[in-house]
Amino acid sequence: MSYLETARKQAEALKTKDKVRILALETSCDETAAAIIENGRVILSNIIFSQIDLHELYGGVVPEIASRAHMEACDRVIDEALAKAGMTLQDVDALAVTYGPGLVGALLTGVSCMKGLAFAAGKPLIPVHHIEGHVSANFLTYPDLEPPFLCLVVSGGHSHLVRVADYGEYHLMGQTGDDAAGEAFDKAARVLGLPYPGGPRIDKLAEEGDPHFLKLPTPKVEGRYDCSFSGVKTAFLNAVHGMEQRGEPLPKADLAASFRFAVCDQLREKTELLLRDELEAGRKPALALAGGVSANRELRRQMTALCEKLGVPLYLPRIDLCTDNGAMIGSAAYYQLRRGALADLSLNAVPALPFVS
Ligand code: KG4
Ligand code: ZN
Repeated sequence: MSYLETARKQAEALKTKDKVRILALETSCDETAAAIIENGRVILSNIIFSQIDLHELYGGVVPEIASRAHMEACDRVIDEALAKAGMTLQDVDALAVTYGPGLVGALLTGVSCMKGLAFAAGKPLIPVHHIEGHVSANFLTYPDLEPPFLCLVVSGGHSHLVRVADYGEYHLMGQTGDDAAGEAFDKAARVLGLPYPGGPRIDKLAEEGDPHFLKLPTPKVEGRYDCSFSGVKTAFLNAVHGMEQRGEPLPKADLAASFRFAVCDQLREKTELLLRDELEAGRKPALALAGGVSANRELRRQMTALCEKLGVPLYLPRIDLCTDNGAMIGSAAYYQLRRGALADLSLNAVPALPFVS
């Protein structure tokens, strides 16, 4: 029997198993992360090795350095995840790995590692979409949360408003026409001289600043729920450069607060439009946030106020599960397994894997 035929049989048997435990690996960018997740909801272990120190010197992720560091760290984080859960590889029911989107070399390291383990241990391998992982961080935070709900996905590469119709079933409602929110935060932080990764640093600095110090433009976008951050970013860069050229000191906290407010206000506005349309259509929407930017304090405050005002349930992922981790991949994998999504040993990394079209 081929590897895939055996894996299919095992996956079928898992449908009736009480406790399904998945070992998941995430290596799409600059975190090498492994976790063991039970039934898509319970974290038995969650180990994250962050490479930030290695990339900080260069002001951003250096793909070659990331791949090499993943290669060195993969075995270690997997061993730690197993040890923390008190399990061996044989106790695990299935393996899961992020296969896209992300940096090709970084993804390949993880995919190769898990294909090797799956073959050696004779376990099913579940391929996971990184952004589906981010959405699933909510299932770990809220054990009773079930689709359908709306989700604002805001990460380094995505700014999408989606309808999560079912597990693994997404419908696009709106998206950015240019930069992703996290990307914009990182660029704005760099112009303020803040080290990589910029998003969390701008967020921290902004807490002490005046969000109305600098008025940034509201962009024109095509779709009703679309957004755009490129104009806001350019206006911000021009304002900062202008101050520098005039020899003025940079009020960094005020600038950070103004930029953060402009980005979050736009995300809030589009989400509000969607929620109001849903309510008017007689639906009962619920909203979840996902992705690295969902850790942003201002975004969380604005969304909390919005949902309170509209009487809409809001789900905010646990802060430590907002940015990249293996737990979210293990949660998404459980629901993919139930749908029968299994990889064979030809699984490849897909750096530009689309989320929804
Ligand atoms: O979801 P994520 O960890 O990786 C991707 O899949 O892209 O997101 C990383 C992005 C980075 O751009 C980072 O600067 C941003 O999320 N980020 C934040 C915050 N924490 C992380 N941006 C704004 N405020 C934060 N607190
Ligand atoms: Zn991510």
